[in-house]
Amino acid sequence: MIILAIETSCDETAIAITKVTGQKKRPAIYVLSNIVSSQVKLHAKYGGVVPNLAKREHQKNLVPILLQALGESGLLNSKIKMRNEKLQFKIQNLLTREPELLNRVKKDIIPLKSPKIDAVAVTNGPGLAPALWVGVNFAKAIAHLWNKPIIPVNHMEGHLYSSLIQATKNHGQKPMTYNLKSLKFPSVALLVSGGHTELVLMKKYNKYQIIGETLDDAAGEAFDKVARILGLKYPGGPEISQLAKRGNADKYKLPSPMINSKDYNFSFSGLKTAVLYLTKDLLQSVPDLVRYSRKDVAASFQKAVVDVLVKKTIRAAEEFQAKTILIGGGVAANEKLRQDLGLAVKKRLPNSKFYIPDPSLTGDNALMISLAAFFTGKTKAPNKIEAQPNLRIES
Ligand code: KG4
Ligand code: ZN
Repeated sequence: MIILAIETSCDETAIAITKVTGQKKRPAIYVLSNIVSSQVKLHAKYGGVVPNLAKREHQKNLVPILLQALGESGLLNSKIKMRNEKLQFKIQNLLTREPELLNRVKKDIIPLKSPKIDAVAVTNGPGLAPALWVGVNFAKAIAHLWNKPIIPVNHMEGHLYSSLIQATKNHGQKPMTYNLKSLKFPSVALLVSGGHTELVLMKKYNKYQIIGETLDDAAGEAFDKVARILGLKYPGGPEISQLAKRGNADKYKLPSPMINSKDYNFSFSGLKTAVLYLTKDLLQSVPDLVRYSRKDVAASFQKAVVDVLVKKTIRAAEEFQAKTILIGGGVAANEKLRQDLGLAVKKRLPNSKFYIPDPSLTGDNALMISLAAFFTGKTKAPNKIEAQPNLRIES
């Protein structure tokens, strides 16, 4: 099965084409192409993602990336004579809200012969509405044009499955081939990104229960907001974790909110406020915050976040007797989280497996969307598919 997957939920325009073979329990995937075009530099100027700017960039990027992905996969066919008018009219209707994208589709995609793919997968939520819609409408347009089924994918499901991709020895070879790790149930997944922080219990494939989630800011959002307080650039996670390496995490005692609460929920906005007050105090007392204390604040903040993430994940894994513990999402790139959670699993659940995504796959990408599409495999009638900014992983 060859899946073409599209991801535009936030500030990355991504397309992947993968061939998946074998059983659901132990498939092999051939990554024919995996392209991520990041808009991070553009949004950094504004200190965060600007939804309409993201929409504009997705419109600009999707067609060139699709052509590149098809080319890399050996699926780029020659052009044929013009398609019939009815088809053109339908495509025009599907992309009325994305005029720039429509122009590019008319020029470069409509004349192409259909490529040999089996399905189009697209992230339909959660995410930023204007950004999601571009991807969804584009997916509908090409699926209609090429007469392929569409598989709508939950972005968080993508992050969850990204941890199943094993590191590979054939680095640099094309196509990249991976065997997938298999899940043993029950599984507990910690999903930590810029918009979400949730603990998900899985009793079987495609059966998810959110057992805990953040009551206010997401973990990644806390990293981004604290980075701004400390005068670091967006996105804050990589900046803070880099700085924290040189800092003393025990220098300042910051709260790990809800660390002792009996539930599996999280809260990070109080911690962010604590950092704000600490920084204000320090600015009064130390002559040069950046030089003397910033790395210690970064390390102490990171410790407060990681401690609560690790503690609740382990408690959930113990209570539900998880055989597999996994993490996914942008914050899963955090080295301290990877290390601390790995050690805690080894110590407290020595018989359980711990899966973490390769650092190249923690951020948003379409490879994970193609993988989730393979596992869920639920095609849906195109007229039923819409962007759902608040889509939850639970069914
Ligand atoms: O999953 P993702 O790429 O996008 C969303 O779906 O939100 O996550 C982005 C988030 C940002 O908040 C970013 O600061 C955070 O992931 N992040 C990190 C690290 N790298 C990225 N947070 C902590 N440590 C990191 N090394
Ligand atoms: Zn994400």
